[in-house]
Amino acid sequence: MPPIPSSEITPEALFWNRRRFIQTALAGAALTLPGCAATSPVTTATPAPDAPAAPTAPAGAGKVTGTSDELGQPLTEFAAVTGYNNYYEFTTDKQAVAATAANFVASPWSVQVDGLVAKPRQFALEDILKLGNEERIYRLRCVEGWSMVIPWSGFSLNKLLALVEPTSAAKYVRFETLNDSSRMPGQKEPWYTWPYAEGLRLDEAMHDLTLIATGVYGNPLPAQNGAPLRLAVPWKYGFKSIKAIVRITLTDTQPTSLWMAAAPDEYGFYANVNPRVDHPRWSQADERRIGESGRRETLMFNGYDKQVASLYTGMDLRKFY
Ligand code: MTE
Repeated sequence: MPPIPSSEITPEALFWNRRRFIQTALAGAALTLPGCAATSPVTTATPAPDAPAAPTAPAGAGKVTGTSDELGQPLTEFAAVTGYNNYYEFTTDKQAVAATAANFVASPWSVQVDGLVAKPRQFALEDILKLGNEERIYRLRCVEGWSMVIPWSGFSLNKLLALVEPTSAAKYVRFETLNDSSRMPGQKEPWYTWPYAEGLRLDEAMHDLTLIATGVYGNPLPAQNGAPLRLAVPWKYGFKSIKAIVRITLTDTQPTSLWMAAAPDEYGFYANVNPRVDHPRWSQADERRIGESGRRETLMFNGYDKQVASLYTGMDLRKFY
């Protein structure tokens, strides 16, 4: 690992000081605190070594067939995928999520699928797991400006939605994370509108790429990656890929996500990866691939433009950030 230049450390340190100040000064008030992108877009540390991923599965990982994504980019190290996480229900310290979440029990688990559907249903996890276990290697681009290549396993969300039969009135899908501060200590922090919620347009949710991930690196999802199931929507910023889902609701109204509620000027509903639309506080033109030195160009729709650009024909992608 190269030494961390002070130019990278300072903004994050300043941020935390400012955040502590705001929390102390305004405790209890309705706050619009910056969201998952609030830290410096340049991450200051990573557990991943700088060498490219080894072609064989590393210790701790299960069996993974692929070694790279469809662009030939190697998998991010297992240690980084499972050791450098964003999961505010546990802690905002990326490298402490795994330890903080280590005792999280994700079984038994069920998911309520309801709203504008002909057959609302509560699914037991065991039944959800029967919907498939395909390996899908996806790029994950965090809005903060870092990225990984991750071997998920799971099934297309459209398989689950087909079972409840969305009605013609359904236009959007809202997702909700478990809301239980006794199991997720970060939810005791008052400055976000728990539970974590996200949303997709119905056609985005029905797209084959939209994955319910139940595993990573050939193992069931560990708590830090969103056990027992989470979304993986690879052409959108990582915050759309909500973890530990307990409820999926079909609706005719555009859902408000946790980040839209927390910082409406910074996070929109669509959140498609777009190198030409900057975050209000930093450029989105490039990114740091965890495990690599230097930065690489960010790709439109995170490189999935051929598959998904047609979903947005005629839309002003600046306006519909
Ligand atoms: N889901 C919940 N419930 N809570 C979170 O804090 N963080 C999001 C997303 N899903 C988050 C979440 C963000 S900002 C990112 S970048 C990804 O999860 C990170 O997924 P990973 O930790 O598996 O890499």
